[in-house]
Amino acid sequence: MRDVSIIGIGQTPVGEHWDKSLKELAAEAILGAINDAQVERVDALYVGNMCSGTLNGQEHLGALISDWVGLRGVEAVKIEAACGSGAAALRLGYVAVAGELADFVVVAGVEKMTDRPGDQVTAALAMASDADFEAQNGLSFVALNALLMRRYMHEYGVPHADFAPFAINAHKNAIGNPYALFPHAVSAQDFCTAKMVADPVNLLDSSPVCDGAAAVVLCPTAIARRFNPQPVRIRASASATDCIAVHDRRDLLGLEAAALSAAKAYGHAQVMPEDIDLFELHDAFTIMSVLSLEACGFAERGRGVRLGSDGDIAIGGRIPITTMGGLKARGHPVGATGIYQVIEVVLQLRGQAGANQVRDARLGMAQNIGGSGATVVTTILETVE
Ligand code: COA
Repeated sequence: MRDVSIIGIGQTPVGEHWDKSLKELAAEAILGAINDAQVERVDALYVGNMCSGTLNGQEHLGALISDWVGLRGVEAVKIEAACGSGAAALRLGYVAVAGELADFVVVAGVEKMTDRPGDQVTAALAMASDADFEAQNGLSFVALNALLMRRYMHEYGVPHADFAPFAINAHKNAIGNPYALFPHAVSAQDFCTAKMVADPVNLLDSSPVCDGAAAVVLCPTAIARRFNPQPVRIRASASATDCIAVHDRRDLLGLEAAALSAAKAYGHAQVMPEDIDLFELHDAFTIMSVLSLEACGFAERGRGVRLGSDGDIAIGGRIPITTMGGLKARGHPVGATGIYQVIEVVLQLRGQAGANQVRDARLGMAQNIGGSGATVVTTILETVE
């Protein structure tokens, strides 16, 4: 296995891109990443996407987008793993380079959700739940997360207001991110009075529906400096699964796939949670932030919510999260999210995060979750000395 590094990044602003088609949006990010990497050859393109068939009437994204960006002929394929599609694609790109099947791989994530009315988007997203038992009975992803949040509040005696710091932190950090959808602050009062979506999940607990594309270029670490003076090495990449249906889980609040993929990643990287300088976690809902922090070893069961109130999740805190706004405020164009997360870690490790820079960041982690915890990909990245 070869060491693999990221040598180029490209992203579009997250927003409502009604003026661009899916392939045009993807191209903006891909050409940005290729330009950043200054590579003249690409061997393969992997595209993370969840809903192009249902929301855009378009499948077969590998061939479509590779042709559109001038890479006709290369191996190219779409990878789908619900909201975890982006990191699942990254993992395949990593495997291809590490396994010496390709030298230069572009991994993109793209999603265009805002062309359809909200009910159609909710139904499309719900396809990643158990169709027979969850979606069939009207459970959307907001509703599934509401069940998890209600259970957490009940088990540990946590009031809803205790989740506010996660939304406040994300929105504050989005102000320093030119690509973020919601670069504005929110207060604890805003959080407590936000409109209810699915009790107890309110608008400020939720990530938004939006469009966006992001891409990275991978190559062997041994030659990475020829293309970029600051390559970022993928020190570990690990994927795990759980059952899709929440009611089938052995441990409702345990996020077992998140724990498993993080444990595998820590093992491969030979690091402990204390070694991680920042964590781009999957804050699709505030409850997911809390469950992820607990599953990944940053807090004991029932104590993750305290990391918010104690200030540990802030830039400068013990474990900074959502440093560029996270899914909550940068936005969550589902199949692209895993690549946005990794790009944000790359920016931190290159020292290019501007006002949001985590001081002396050398080791960053990103975790992308598909469904309510069924597919989880954890990536640990580090600066190359
Ligand atoms: N956070 C903060 N503000 C939000 C927001 C969010 N998540 N979503 C929308 N808004 C704002 C909009 O900018 C708009 O503001 P404006 O009136 O100042 O222009 C206003 O709220 C209404 O926007 P709209 O798009 O009509 O909201 P909506 O009520 O249709 O949708 C949600 C809100 C939360 C229901 C929707 O974003 C949603 O379904 N989110 C979850 C998506 C999801 O499940 N993803 C997969 C996760 S696994």
